[in-house]
Amino acid sequence: MTATERAQALRELLNRYNIEYYVLDSPTVPDAEYDKLFRELESLENEHPALRTPDSPTQRVGGRPLDAFEPAIHAVPMLSLNNAFSDDDLISFDRRAREALGVESVSYDVGPKFDGLAITLIYRNGVFESGATRGDGSTGENVTANLKTVRAIPLRLRGDRLPALLEVRGEVLMLRADFDRLNADQDARGDKRFVNPRNAAAGALRQLDSRITASRRLNFFAYGIARCEGGEMPATQSGAMAWLKTLGFPVSKLAARVDGAEGLLDYYRHIGELRPTLPFDIDGVVYKVDSFADQEKLGFVSRAPRWAIAHKFPAEEALTVVEGIDVQVGRTGALTPVARLQPVFVGGVTVTNATLHNLDEVHRKDVRVGDTVIVRRAGDVIPEVVGALLERRPKETVAGEEVPKYAPFAMPTTCPVCGSHVAREEGAAAYRCTGGLVCSAQRKQALLHFASRRAMDIEGLGDKLVDQMVDVGLLRTPADIYKLGILKLAELERMAEKSAANLLASIDKSRNTTLQRVIYALGIRNVGESTAKDLARHFGKLDGLIEAATLADEAAALAAIQAVPDVGPIVAKSIRDFMLESHNIEVIEQLRAGGVVWAESDPSELLATGPLLGKTLVVTGTLPSLSRDEAKALIEAAGGKVAGSVSKKTDYVVAGEAAGSKLDKAQELGIAIVDEAGLRALVGSQPA
Ligand code: IVH
Repeated sequence: MTATERAQALRELLNRYNIEYYVLDSPTVPDAEYDKLFRELESLENEHPALRTPDSPTQRVGGRPLDAFEPAIHAVPMLSLNNAFSDDDLISFDRRAREALGVESVSYDVGPKFDGLAITLIYRNGVFESGATRGDGSTGENVTANLKTVRAIPLRLRGDRLPALLEVRGEVLMLRADFDRLNADQDARGDKRFVNPRNAAAGALRQLDSRITASRRLNFFAYGIARCEGGEMPATQSGAMAWLKTLGFPVSKLAARVDGAEGLLDYYRHIGELRPTLPFDIDGVVYKVDSFADQEKLGFVSRAPRWAIAHKFPAEEALTVVEGIDVQVGRTGALTPVARLQPVFVGGVTVTNATLHNLDEVHRKDVRVGDTVIVRRAGDVIPEVVGALLERRPKETVAGEEVPKYAPFAMPTTCPVCGSHVAREEGAAAYRCTGGLVCSAQRKQALLHFASRRAMDIEGLGDKLVDQMVDVGLLRTPADIYKLGILKLAELERMAEKSAANLLASIDKSRNTTLQRVIYALGIRNVGESTAKDLARHFGKLDGLIEAATLADEAAALAAIQAVPDVGPIVAKSIRDFMLESHNIEVIEQLRAGGVVWAESDPSELLATGPLLGKTLVVTGTLPSLSRDEAKALIEAAGGKVAGSVSKKTDYVVAGEAAGSKLDKAQELGIAIVDEAGLRALVGSQPA
């Protein structure tokens, strides 16, 4: 094969893959294969520059930056659409069309209203010549160099009998997945994030340096034909769309043909349901009278056609002003910054608060009090602040000026609820109150969790009652529940004698429980129901768990807990942190004193697990960092047994400094001998 033939073959292959990907929505090769062939073509063209054609896929990488965009005068103006916000608006639109056309029922071509940027593309004899933005509708900007980098836009049309001139209208947009990737890259570089896919697409399309446009993956959907000369135009909008697809333009597969107002409304509801699952943002649907002859009869009013209308969905984003940034404390003590907003209607509800997630997020978005921000509420997702419009920031907030109210947000150093010290969690974005059970924010939640059905199952101890009892000082810790008496309860507002008696009865009932429930009820961070069950099964006794978790040697303690199946280092660390807090252990003691009982069993009787299951070990001599007790706990937590003397039944001898006769005996019997590091390897513990 000559270089010319190979280049030709590569171009055809790459164009085919492009069509499969963007037009047919069914790629047949992975991206890497495309990239490989692309590079081959690139180097072939570098060796033989004469082989480079204007429609080669390699021409999509962008070229020298422009000084400015040339104006592009639209031969056919780019008009706007009237909006329908309600079913009534839409029913009137259909009625007017029927009356003007003097027909019983009208057929419509319907499709999504893409939330991107309108562009127009001119093809001469099937070759892409130029493209422009909408601008003011009469004159836009010539962004040809940028549009060439968009792989969804064909550089050469397919088929024969191509029109001498074809002008296609459509929308450039960025897929949500590409948008997320772009923002992740921006984060990694420490650059500012884009607020939404539409802004990101607009930014990319308006780059004077087309190489930047090329680096941001844009997409395109065609939705109309403005001019067709020297070729045959279909008679309908739906026919035109089908034809554009054969020419190599991506058209939405959500498009359809429906009849009458009923058909329009059904379609609106159908797309509304699909909306959250679509790979790109849409802000409504567009209905167009299908027949071009009918469109002509209907004509235009001012700047919008009478034959089309956009039926909008409730906006998912809206602008509002940040009045303050509060910090909320959750059950686990996590501090969450929350923006207090001027009330705004978005996503179908009035929003007054929006989470800012954590401090990193606030800084990344640079949201400050006084800022105008974009608030987003998509579907049932909780409202969030997408970003601040820096150009609208009040002057006082500009960096350099000392206006505390408008200063960048900082996390408080003490808990806004209890005043305890705030600590930043290692390696995570979370800040936490260290107040634990003394912090009322956590206390109420801790109590509710403790009493919940799957924990201690205390019927009747709900949030209103917990609120009240914490507020009057009747409850501080879960153990206080078991100190309640009828007289104390009777003092509570709205507490009838009967309900007090019922509550006491269900508290009493909860005294008889299981180890699994107790462990779960403690509310240890990262310990859910199933972990609690595994822990109960493995340790058998609460004291066994406490002992393992509080071993002086941290590595040994973590290993002892991680010997439980499915328990990893993070869970192990949470358990250790919890058990090292003396006030938590006090609560456990008080629970016992309050009459809470659960069955305990010897771990060895249980379905023990762990890497040393069924093995017998003997420890002798002084180990470098583990005491004899710690080594024993480590072995037992891993399912092994510790014996006092060496025999044929011994599986391993753990030997330290100055090991004596036991070591000799082991050597004599040919038993495996390990040092402390060897023991740690056996149980899977990291050295201290
Ligand atoms: S047809 C005569 N179809 O909506 C106007 N427009 O208000 C013909 N848009 O900025 C427009 N999706 O970019 C049409 N499927 C669609 C559309 C669509 C989005 C945008 C268009 C323009 C605005 C018109």
